[in-house]
Amino acid sequence: MDTYLETERLVLRRFTAGDTDLLVELDSDAEVMRYLTGEPTPRAEIEQKVLPEILARYETHPDLGTFAAHEQSTGQFLGWFGLQPTSEAGTVDVGYRLNRSAWGRGYATEGTRALIDRAFNELGMARVIADTMAVNMKSRRVMVKAGLRFVRLFHVHFDDPLPGTEYGEVEYAIDRSAWEAGL
Ligand SMILES: CC(C)(COP(=O)(O)OP(=O)(O)OC[C@H]1O[C@@H](n2cnc3c(N)ncnc32)[C@H](O)[C@@H]1OP(=O)(O)O)[C@@H](O)C(=O)NCCC(=O)NCCS
Repeated sequence: MDTYLETERLVLRRFTAGDTDLLVELDSDAEVMRYLTGEPTPRAEIEQKVLPEILARYETHPDLGTFAAHEQSTGQFLGWFGLQPTSEAGTVDVGYRLNRSAWGRGYATEGTRALIDRAFNELGMARVIADTMAVNMKSRRVMVKAGLRFVRLFHVHFDDPLPGTEYGEVEYAIDRSAWEAGL
């Protein structure tokens, strides 16, 4: 297994070409997809676009990407965490998507903290950001618990907007100095 990082309860590893079924199952829950696309992702899209793009990113950005998360104690697949490049040098974007059965146990917070730690301590990043729909309160709570702070509310035009889009998107962030100060 190509382990990216471990926390007390989680193992994050690189996805492989054999992981289609895990991603299809994760994206098949409408509640998981509620603030993302609002609908399950078709298997063909995962096979032809989602997974190939995840694998390609490991080549272009070997320290970053989307990583499968497993429970240390059982090996069970929980979902994924991502640490992605942005258009700003020195700034990365953190994200997460977990199976509903894994919600409410602090896993998203634990994984996000570990990725922020990796970004600052090992990758030399200056800033970590995250964004979500303003109405995605669970995700916003995870951002705050992981140390990110509210930056701005902004609006994006979508041709086919999800319910709640009218409330906008939110960005959260933390700089290296704040992370080092334990803020
Ligand atoms: C967002 C997500 C990763 C959270 O995972 P999780 O493992 O349940 O997160 P945690 O257990 O670490 O924390 C959830 C927090 O949100 C809080 N929360 C839940 N519903 C809430 C609400 N409606 N309003 C405010 N806070 C809420 C919980 O109480 C908990 O905080 P607490 O520990 O202070 O009580 C998970 O819900 C998910 O995968 N959702 C679908 C994908 C998604 O939306 N990803 C984010 C897109 S940017």
